[in-house]
Amino acid sequence: MKLIVLRCSSARGLLLPLLFLETDILQQPENISEFSKDTVCFFMFLDEETEAALKNSTTIDHTKRIGLWRIVVVRNLPYSDARRNGKVPKLLLHRLFPNVRYSIWIDGKLKLVRDPYQVLERFLWRKNVSFAISRHYRRFDVFDEAEANKAGGKYDNASIDYQIEFYKREGLTHYSSAKLPMTSDVPEGCVIVREHIPITNLFSCLWFNEVDRFTSRDQLSFSMVRDKIRSRVNWTADMFLDCERRDFVVQSYHRELLEQRQASLRSRPLLRPPMGQIQPRKMLPDNASKEPGKASSAKKLPGKRTRDERSSSKRGHRTKVIGGKEAIQL
Ligand SMILES: *[C@@H]1O[C@H](CO)[C@@H](O)[C@H](O)[C@H]1NC(C)=O
Ligand SMILES: *[C@@H]1O[C@H](CO)[C@@H](O)[C@H](O)[C@H]1NC(C)=O
Ligand SMILES: *[C@@H]1O[C@H](CO)[C@@H](O)[C@H](O)[C@H]1NC(C)=O
Ligand SMILES: *[C@@H]1O[C@H](CO)[C@@H](O)[C@H](O)[C@H]1NC(C)=O
Ligand SMILES: *[C@@H]1O[C@H](CO)[C@@H](O)[C@H](O)[C@H]1NC(C)=O
Ligand SMILES: *[C@@H]1O[C@H](CO)[C@@H](O)[C@H](O)[C@H]1NC(C)=O
Repeated sequence: MKLIVLRCSSARGLLLPLLFLETDILQQPENISEFSKDTVCFFMFLDEETEAALKNSTTIDHTKRIGLWRIVVVRNLPYSDARRNGKVPKLLLHRLFPNVRYSIWIDGKLKLVRDPYQVLERFLWRKNVSFAISRHYRRFDVFDEAEANKAGGKYDNASIDYQIEFYKREGLTHYSSAKLPMTSDVPEGCVIVREHIPITNLFSCLWFNEVDRFTSRDQLSFSMVRDKIRSRVNWTADMFLDCERRDFVVQSYHRELLEQRQASLRSRPLLRPPMGQIQPRKMLPDNASKEPGKASSAKKLPGKRTRDERSSSKRGHRTKVIGGKEAIQL
C-alpha cells in the first residue's frame, strides 16, 4: 500500500517571506509513528519563488528534503491564477501519483499532528467511505458561500454569478434538510482524505473540470459535482466537522500574526521579531480569511499559535466547540 501525505504551499499564490517559511513550511508533522516514517511519502509542492526563498535559508539541500517533507518544485505552471494552479496537485493527484492508494491532502498553512494511518482509519476505514473532506466551519449553502466570496472580493462578481446561474439551471438549490444525509453543500477544502479508486478519481477529475471552466473557488462547485454523481451512482463524498479536522491538522500561525510580522518585516527586513513580543489582536477582514485552514482553531492548545482569536470577533463568525460538538452560529 502506498500512502502519501501532500501539502501544497503554492496554492494561495502567496510568496511567503522567509520568516514564515521557517515557521510554516519548515514545520514538521508531529506524532508520526516510525512505521509511517518508513511507509508514508510526505510531498510538498512549492512554486519556484517559494523555493528560491527557501534556498536562502540554507535549510534545503541537494536531497530536496526538509525533515519528512520531500520538496517538489512545480515549473511551467499552466494558469496565471495561482489558486487554480494549486488545484492541479490537489484535485488531479491520482494523475500525478498513479500508484498511490491513499492520500491525505493538507493545505500549506496546516500542520499535521496525527499519524496518517490514524487519519485514514478514522475518516475512511471506520466509516467505509472512499472520500472525506471537511465541512466549512460555518456555511453549508452554496448560495451563501457565493455571496460571501463576492463580499470578500475572492473572485470577480460576474464570474461567480455566472457560475452560480449556470448551476441553478443545472438544478442547484439551497441547502435544506431534504438533502440529508448530505449535511452540507460547502466544504472547507483545506483537507481531503481519499482512497484512489475509479469513482473518487472520476469525482476529482470532474471537480477539477469545474475549477478549470469556472472560478477557481472549488467550494462553489463541490456539491454540484457530488450531486451529479450521486444521481447516477450510490456513492458520496463524506463531510466531517471542522472540529474533527482541527483534531489532526492545526494552523501553524494566525493571520493576524502573519500581518503583523509582514509589517515588521517591511520595516526591519533582517530582524526576526521576537516571538514573545507578538501579541496578535485584530482580526483581518473576512475577505482575507477565506481559503482553507484559515478558520482559527478554537482549540486551546499551549502556545499562541493555536489561540482562538475568533472568539473575540464581533462579526458573528464564531465557531464554538462545546463538548466536542460544533455549534454553528448563523
Ligand atoms: C536571497 O538572499 C539575497 C541576499 O541575502 C537577497 O538579495 C534575495 O532577495 C533573497 N531571495 C529571496 C527570494 O528571498
Ligand atoms: C500528539 O498526540 C497526542 C495524543 O495522541 C496529543 O495529545 C498531542 O496534542 C499531539 N501532538 C500535537 C502537537 O498535537
Ligand atoms: C463498504 O462499502 C462497500 C461499497 O460501498 C460495500 O460493498 C461494503 O459491503 C461495505 N462494507 C461494510 C462493512 O459496510
Ligand atoms: C460584489 O458583490 C458584493 C456583494 O454582492 C458587493 O458587496 C461588492 O461591492 C461587489 N463588488 C463589485 C466590485 O462590484
Ligand atoms: C478587503 O476588504 C477591505 C474592506 O472591506 C478592503 O479595504 C481590502 O482591500 C479588501 N482586501 C482584499 C484582499 O480584497
Ligand atoms: C447505498 O449504499 C449504502 C451503503 O454503502 C446502503 O446502505 C444504501 O442502502 C445504498 N442505497 C441504495 C439506494 O442502494
